[in-house]
Amino acid sequence: MPGGGFAVSAPSVVEFEAKITPIVIISCIMAATGGLMFGYDVGISGGVTSMDDFLREFFPAVLRRKNQDKESNYCKYDNQGLQLFTSSLYLAGLTATFFASYTTRRLGRRLTMLIAGVFFIIGVIFNGAAQNLAMLIIGRILLGCGVGFANQAVPLFLSEIAPTRIRGGLNILFQLNVTIGILFANLVNYGTSKIHPWGWRLSLSLAGIPAAMLTLGALFVTDTPNSLIERGHLEEGKAVLKRIRGTDNVEPEFNEIVEASRIAQEVKHPFRNLLQRRNRPQLVIAVLLQIFQQFTGINAIMFYAPVLFNTLGFKSDASLYSAVITGAVNVLATLVSVYAVDRAGRRALLLEAGVQMFLSQVVIAVVLGIKVTDKSDNLGHGWAILVVVMVCTYVASFAWSWGPLGWLIPSETFPLETRSAGQSVTVCVNLLFTFLIAQAFLSMLCHLKFAIFIFFSAWVLVMSVFVLFFLPETKNVPIEEMTDKVWKQHWFWKRFMDDDDQHHNIANGKNATV
Ligand code: BGC
Repeated sequence: MPGGGFAVSAPSVVEFEAKITPIVIISCIMAATGGLMFGYDVGISGGVTSMDDFLREFFPAVLRRKNQDKESNYCKYDNQGLQLFTSSLYLAGLTATFFASYTTRRLGRRLTMLIAGVFFIIGVIFNGAAQNLAMLIIGRILLGCGVGFANQAVPLFLSEIAPTRIRGGLNILFQLNVTIGILFANLVNYGTSKIHPWGWRLSLSLAGIPAAMLTLGALFVTDTPNSLIERGHLEEGKAVLKRIRGTDNVEPEFNEIVEASRIAQEVKHPFRNLLQRRNRPQLVIAVLLQIFQQFTGINAIMFYAPVLFNTLGFKSDASLYSAVITGAVNVLATLVSVYAVDRAGRRALLLEAGVQMFLSQVVIAVVLGIKVTDKSDNLGHGWAILVVVMVCTYVASFAWSWGPLGWLIPSETFPLETRSAGQSVTVCVNLLFTFLIAQAFLSMLCHLKFAIFIFFSAWVLVMSVFVLFFLPETKNVPIEEMTDKVWKQHWFWKRFMDDDDQHHNIANGKNATV
């Protein structure tokens, strides 16, 4: 074992006094609706792009190919324009995150969520009313901007407002909403695919519901004490802290936030600061976690489940149906995480899921490799069921591990001084890799065929090894104490933590080595 023990468990800590107050729960539920919107956007495109009416209007070439028997099964949806419809949202989102970093820091978490809501609403109008491809793509781009702002602000909001001992569970409300959004989208597609010729319009327009919920939610919640204090509203921050913790005894936590925000104030260039050596562990982990989350291959399933099942020879209806099943499994398994994350901890969930994801992907690859050839999609009833069961097994394990933890861990490990910048790098990398997968998957499926699942399973192996050696446990550690309690204790990362003096120099405007 390197360094004589790599499984760093969180040291026991003194809890701040905090009741689980209704205002915390309600604020978190409202804020988490940002996840609903993200999930709806993720889930809606797969079903829409497999609807003939939609293809006839915007992608007639794909429709022709889809209806030709001669076309290879694995390749019938391989079209860059079609993939751009799905992926443009992510490209826009990753650009938006850099503006979102500024707004979360300067305007606060709450206003940033409001900005996201407004982007969503305008985007939905463009999409629902689309007359041509341009309107469709502009709508997706506006939705992407909404995702950029929402995914930046919501996880921070949740991690900061939650009492330490249930922080993981509350933060996962974001991911729970993502999965509900995906399921909702799948159900909507299932219904609208029967409405000709404008069912797809209804699918895209119903995104207005989560968009309106987020906008209303953002109008009603209070900002986090951390954000208020960071922006100099000390008294208001303290009052909010008392209200959300349900006690007047908030002095220790208040002081800790004030101290964190004093350090944060000294940082003039948040992104440059993020590159300092002492911020390396959080940065590396945040970036890798996002890359890994996407390389689990989850979005190959989420975006393209109907298309994928169709490719495997399920009829159109059956494939949407299967997508609904995977959507439901995704929601239910996320609940497991809400319960387990602050008990079993982050590492245990990620490691267990690694094994489960690896095995299910290998089984899928083997079945498809033997059963689905280029020209024959006769999977057979029994095998088809096995594939759906394995896809569900895989989705379940993702849903209680990489899904929520990919968002939770970065949002809780950065110190306040780099939290906004760190979160925007997190979101940006996430969306970048989501984009790459969205854009490449159908082509990869066409070229790699069943081996695409081997490709993803190899990544699952790599990420599990990384977790084993390099990911510290962060459960039950107060958010402003991560540096001392986690990073300085870790067998590997502690070597980056020995430059407090340099830190001091930076704070005083002197030069320091990066
Ligand atoms: C990921 C998304 C994915 C979703 C599936 C999220 O955590 O970021 O890319 O589609 O989980 O539930």
